Amino acid sequence: MPLRLIVAILVSISLFLGCSQNIEKKKYKIGLSQCMLDDAWRQAMLKEAYIEALNYDSIEIIVKDANSDNDRQIAQIRELIKMDVDVLIISPFQSAPITPVAEEAYKAGIPTIITDRKINSELYTTFVGADNYAIGHAAGKYAINQLPPNARILEIWGLAKSSPAQERHQGFIDALISRSDLRFSKIEADWLYKKAKERLDEQYIPDDIDFVYSHNDMMAIAAREYFIKYAPEKANSLQIIGVDAVPGAGLEAVADGRIDASFTYPTAGEEVIRTAIKILNGEEIEKEIKLRSVQIGKNNAETLLIQAEQLLNYQRRIENQRIITESLISRFNFLRNSFSIISLLMLGFVLLSIYIYFINRKMKKTNQILVEINRKEEEQRKKLIELNAEIENVTAQKLQFFTNVSHEVRTPLTLILDPLDKLTRLMHDSPYFSDLQLMQKNANRLLRVINQILDFRKVERNQEALNIRHMDIVSLAGEVKSYFESVASLRNIQYAFHTNTKNCLLWFDTDMIEKVLVNLVSNAFKFTPQNGQIDVSIRELEKTVEIEIKDNGQGIDPQIKPFIFDRFYTQGQQTGTGIGLHLVKEYIQLHKGAIRVDSNWGKGSSFIFSLSKGKAHFAEEVINEFPASPLAYDASVLDDSEEKALLELNYDYTILIVEDDEEVRIYLNNNLKENFNILVATNGKEALEIIQKHEISLVLSDVMMPEMNGFELCRLIKSDISCSHIPVILLTALSDSRQRNFGLSLGADDYIQKPFQITHIKIKIIRQLQERERMRTALLNKLQQGSLLLIAPDKTENIDDLFLNRFIGLLENIYTDPDFNIEKASTELGLSRGHLSRKIKELTGITPVEFLRNFRLTKATILLKQQQLSISEITYQTGFSSPAYFTKCFRAVYGVTPSDYK
Ligand code: FRU
Repeated sequence: MPLRLIVAILVSISLFLGCSQNIEKKKYKIGLSQCMLDDAWRQAMLKEAYIEALNYDSIEIIVKDANSDNDRQIAQIRELIKMDVDVLIISPFQSAPITPVAEEAYKAGIPTIITDRKINSELYTTFVGADNYAIGHAAGKYAINQLPPNARILEIWGLAKSSPAQERHQGFIDALISRSDLRFSKIEADWLYKKAKERLDEQYIPDDIDFVYSHNDMMAIAAREYFIKYAPEKANSLQIIGVDAVPGAGLEAVADGRIDASFTYPTAGEEVIRTAIKILNGEEIEKEIKLRSVQIGKNNAETLLIQAEQLLNYQRRIENQRIITESLISRFNFLRNSFSIISLLMLGFVLLSIYIYFINRKMKKTNQILVEINRKEEEQRKKLIELNAEIENVTAQKLQFFTNVSHEVRTPLTLILDPLDKLTRLMHDSPYFSDLQLMQKNANRLLRVINQILDFRKVERNQEALNIRHMDIVSLAGEVKSYFESVASLRNIQYAFHTNTKNCLLWFDTDMIEKVLVNLVSNAFKFTPQNGQIDVSIRELEKTVEIEIKDNGQGIDPQIKPFIFDRFYTQGQQTGTGIGLHLVKEYIQLHKGAIRVDSNWGKGSSFIFSLSKGKAHFAEEVINEFPASPLAYDASVLDDSEEKALLELNYDYTILIVEDDEEVRIYLNNNLKENFNILVATNGKEALEIIQKHEISLVLSDVMMPEMNGFELCRLIKSDISCSHIPVILLTALSDSRQRNFGLSLGADDYIQKPFQITHIKIKIIRQLQERERMRTALLNKLQQGSLLLIAPDKTENIDDLFLNRFIGLLENIYTDPDFNIEKASTELGLSRGHLSRKIKELTGITPVEFLRNFRLTKATILLKQQQLSISEITYQTGFSSPAYFTKCFRAVYGVTPSDYK
């Protein structure tokens, strides 16, 4: 059930309760306009009206006192009209002035009751009051019996312009019409005791007054007092009559004899209210409601007074009753209101409970729906996750396939490129030279793309590890710049190199930064037309070095500029992989550097990247403190002639090629056999068998092979003392630095990354074996110079050093024993004689027998220098069998006899 409905019900109920109370409370407003209120008669009238009103609890009387002022009374009546009274009662001050306003009220539809005094119009509802003419007439009749012949009557008038005064006079005169003997005097006192006194005092009152007729009792009392004061002799016998006979005024005066008689003039308070109620009840009303008047004399005045007293008591009791009733009513109202409020609240509570019940039910339903929606969403989410995982899986598989294909493509590509290189070099004068060049150029391009894809994959998989070294950025940039010289001249591009420093050593990964430079420069060439201009600039700044590659080519469309570093974005072209600039940015970010592009659409662009000085921004483990290997770096700047000379020689080295790919194996064999003796194996296992049987100078092995891979082979070679001296070069298609480092950690002496150039492999092999040769010579020299000592244990780097240490240690112990021979040594060292011989020969270049003899001779030179022992003593102490043999051997090595040496 909606809340709005409940609120509406509550409001309606409260309105209903409010209305029902209003209906009960609704009072009829009865306006009472009194011309004055300052005498007993009018007070009595008011009291009567109030008491009568008590009978009707829906009546409210609004009393206005005009204080004997016509204008005020007119205003007050208008006020009552405005108040929209339900009945208007008017007791006019003067007839004529009040008539129009009374008519006004009547015309306005207000039932108008005229009382006591009349108006000069018929436009009113009813007149309630006594017949003043009749009262005057009764007074005349009373007088006629009292008056002696020629008597003089003093008539004291009420307000002459009010109807009671006029009618009481007329009735009186008419009753005395038969007595023409009578004489009349009059004064006008406006119904007031005070005025009557003043007038009587002002005017000369003839002594012969026999009768006083006063229009009301108050003026009659004033007359009595006047006569008592001024004519005491007749004051008591003088007949004085009045009108009204109200308790509290005239009635007491009649009872105590101040007035001889009076005529009741009903105040009509009760009648006017009763008449008003009749009108309100819609009852028929007569135009004139006449009230009776009674003559009061001393005898009945008392009785009336007692009755009045009783009436007063009743009135008091009624008044008390009224107060009690009112308090009961107010209590009742309070209880009723409280009950209403409580009922309302209870009803509200019930409705609210119903509402809450409905809301609860609705919420439960909504909850159920929500739970269902949630469940469905969760299901969908799970499905999406599964789908996502599937997509990711498929994508990963795709990318892996892509990577595998790239690897696969790279090996044959190498086999194409290498012979092509060779052919291009040899067939300078052939008519196919330009075709060969074209093939070479495109194969190189293909290789670059393949390499870029593999690099991209590594970056994507966060597998690209930095190898930070201290290098000269200027020479690297210059080097890269030089790669493009020929293209520049072919296309007549002005191609310049600027630098504000001759050299600048920075910490960076040469491989990556070279790729960055190659990429940016080749990009510049791609978008620069014939006769254009490209500048490569280096600026050394305080904390960084900025490298700028600027061209005046087509520039970059501002709309695509924000995306050019995004992966797979190809500047709106169909060509290109869209990974070059992405890689550039990734590499720069790996270096914690920054790259930006300034471009003028149609006028050229400028790529600027900056690298920070110092190495604090790199993690320690990526920093390689050793200076870059001259082989690795200088290979690119090798003097051609030296290279040619090296490659033209034949070496007495036996190279074991380990490669599972037949084509590659044959290719390597065919090329390497030009310079070396070659043995081949298709996997690690085979290789180990060959190593056991043959004297191998160097192993050139692929990494990924069946049965036993290159890493395992390397590990086994390097951990077997009989062959650990053999240098191992790993040949890998995995251009992954982690694998590279892994190979090196297993003892590999070098690695060559596929695709390879055969000359590069040859140079590496030659350098590696030359280095061995150099080490052997140095060792031998040391031995001959007598400075061959045990290598300090903490400087032993590998298994060979350890072995040599053990061998020399053994010699140290036995060299004095002439019977000691190499058989014994091999037993001690746990090697066969053949292995020991091969090993010592590999490490030192001489046989173990020669080594032992040289060792003894070295010891002899020390003793000879000490000059304490004879030649023959030295002969036996150094384990030679005879002085003659010692001398022969000594001369063979040192060129002089021991005694000459001494
Ligand atoms: C009271 C009174 C009465 C008199 C009546 C006439 O104000 O003067 O004494 O009878 O008015 O309207």
